[in-house]
Amino acid sequence: MPADRTLRLSPRPLLSFHAACPHGLEESLALELRALGATATPTRGGVSFEGDLGLAYRANLWSRIASRILLRLAHAPYRNEDELYRITGSIDWSAWFDPRQTLRVDVTGSRSPLRSLNFATLRIKDAIVDFFRERAGERPSIDTRQPDVRVFAHLDEREASLYLDLSGEPLFKRGWRQREDKGEAPLKENLAAGLLALAGWQATQPLLDPFCGSGTILIEAAQIARGIAPGLSRRFGFERLSTFDEALWADLRGQAQVEMQAARAAPLAIHGSDIDAEAIGQARMNARRAGLGEDAIALRQADCRTLEPPVATPGMIVCNPPYGERIDVAGGDYEATMLAFGQALKTRFGGWEAWVLSGDRTLPRRLRIREKRKHPLYNGPIDCRLFGFELFEPTPRG
Ligand SMILES: C[S@@+](CC[C@H](N)C(=O)[O-])C[C@H]1O[C@@H](n2cnc3c(N)ncnc32)[C@H](O)[C@@H]1O
Repeated sequence: MPADRTLRLSPRPLLSFHAACPHGLEESLALELRALGATATPTRGGVSFEGDLGLAYRANLWSRIASRILLRLAHAPYRNEDELYRITGSIDWSAWFDPRQTLRVDVTGSRSPLRSLNFATLRIKDAIVDFFRERAGERPSIDTRQPDVRVFAHLDEREASLYLDLSGEPLFKRGWRQREDKGEAPLKENLAAGLLALAGWQATQPLLDPFCGSGTILIEAAQIARGIAPGLSRRFGFERLSTFDEALWADLRGQAQVEMQAARAAPLAIHGSDIDAEAIGQARMNARRAGLGEDAIALRQADCRTLEPPVATPGMIVCNPPYGERIDVAGGDYEATMLAFGQALKTRFGGWEAWVLSGDRTLPRRLRIREKRKHPLYNGPIDCRLFGFELFEPTPRG
């Protein structure tokens, strides 16, 4: 990740941003944003930070963990929908977009006194539409599917925050996954990056995902090691705003290309396996689409019950195996498979660390390995744990 240049040299005003992320990854996201030069404060479900638009462009381009970057336009106390209408109407929307563009408004609440968030959404939308109608005689139309501009509001017990979305499509969409090519319950890319961050994986360390499916964890890891900015192959919401600084954006993308070239030959030890040959084929294709050469990730078909280390030097396993409730394990029942997987880890992976994301809280018992660390995390709506295991060399008998 390049050190921040735009922020310190820029005379532009300080703006307030909120980067949203999956619950449990707030601290990891704050570290990532600090590495970009931001003063970042973790909150629930995200991180707030300040800077100029250049910093926000860089966060969109480089953050592997954020789901979205939002610009905060208002933060004020409210008691009812009329006050929301007034707060929304006091923002100069014409500084950001044009009434010929399409709009979508989303509202979330936590302990909001309002009875209906739908009605609150309607009032906020009305205030933006009326703002333009009164000034320009034109109004933006609503498009809930592919809007040009997205406005988010968050209502807590007393205060309302209004945000302009700078990301567009959520940031976990890196641009390489094909729509019809979803695989069996693939992880979101930003959650996969979060697992690697929480596990403390270093790009020089051997990595193995023995349940690799479509290859999400491995592709994130290889992109980290190869210095590939996660947002290099996609478009962003900020490109549609009137404030869009095309030259600055071209410069930031250019710097990212240089960074990628510099890390092009970095040696990688990234390995993946899965019992399903089709999943291996898909992971291979996804790696190619993600801009990784044939040699970046070593993939093979293998059963976790008979797993062998792919390299002699101990490294790190990061994975999310299927678990009972959700998906059947191939080749046997869940309990027996996890028992055999645990046995393979204990007998053949001495010196390795294993980090396993699962919705099964009893996983350590099933593997018969006591965890060293445990992080609560959400995989979509599923309450999960990322268990960290230290695997020791078997002590010689005698
Ligand atoms: C939850 S998915 C992993 C998804 C993956 N992280 C991704 O993002 O695409 C679990 C994977 O475990 C594989 N699997 C099931 N039983 C297995 C076994 N006995 N050995 C190895 N892989 C197995 C499935 O084929 C599936 O691809």
